[in-house]
Amino acid sequence: MSLIVFGSINLDLVTKTPRLPLPGESLTGHNFFTAFGGKGANQAVMAARLGMMTYMVGRVGNDSFGQELLGSLQESGVICDRVFLDPSIHSGVAVITVEDSGENTIILVPGANGQVNQTDVAQINPLFSDAFALLLQLEVPLPAVKAAAENARKAGVKVILDPAPAQVNVPADFYPLVDIITPNETEASLLVGFPVNSPETAAKAAKELQRRGVEIVLVTLGAKGVFCATKDDDFFLPAFSVEAIDTVAAGDAFNGAIATALATGLPLREAVVWGAAAGALATTKVGAQSSLCDRATLEKFLAEHPVNIL
Ligand code: RIB
Repeated sequence: MSLIVFGSINLDLVTKTPRLPLPGESLTGHNFFTAFGGKGANQAVMAARLGMMTYMVGRVGNDSFGQELLGSLQESGVICDRVFLDPSIHSGVAVITVEDSGENTIILVPGANGQVNQTDVAQINPLFSDAFALLLQLEVPLPAVKAAAENARKAGVKVILDPAPAQVNVPADFYPLVDIITPNETEASLLVGFPVNSPETAAKAAKELQRRGVEIVLVTLGAKGVFCATKDDDFFLPAFSVEAIDTVAAGDAFNGAIATALATGLPLREAVVWGAAAGALATTKVGAQSSLCDRATLEKFLAEHPVNIL
């Protein structure tokens, strides 16, 4: 059993500042580092670190960033033979600012990610026979993401969509292709057209997304927790209490861990606990892939943190 991640691979250029700058303001930061990232790559690394056989499909530039990004993925155990080194363009980069509270902003320059197309979609097809799920995000062109979802649906492989970065223009005929959608507050608000910032508003958003055709809706509410809606069960998992220093890739950790848990046969409630724990752990370390835990760390954390599903 395996997972396929189709999506972005970025080098993150991270600055740490006391607070996020206001428009027009110059601010002195206190740290700068580069980190391996990209929503797709982060999800793949999360799943592989938890012991899942994980394929990454996407593009990097044929440049030094691209080589380093591939190296990091491989080191984490992700199978990368379907990642294309695109000679026509630079690797994707994300310019990230993290303030002392852990909150962040991201400017994405897609580079090679923006070139992902039907050729890359075709790379996925031979992997479906052994796959549990296809993990998608919205950092590569939407037509390719949707085509991949269509193929997965035809092959009977589950589709897990993290609708990030936030977008309004997810087409109506995409939702019925999605088994599980995992928006955060901003993403959910944009998708449904009203503010989502509490379990109550998340429940309302979940109903709307289910009406559009998604089976399972998991709305992540940051430090508040996760609201989950299935056909016949709604529940809320309060967030684990941790000292957050950097929230980058917490959502990716959530997605990679949930998919891994489900692929290993755990029920949804337990999978959501895995996702929330992996997400919480990711906020306690800096960087994207550098903040993603391994299986032993996750199990230790779960053993030490009792869970209270409401
Ligand atoms: O979700 C976090 C990721 O978003 C970062 O690693 C960055 O590359 C952006 O894609």
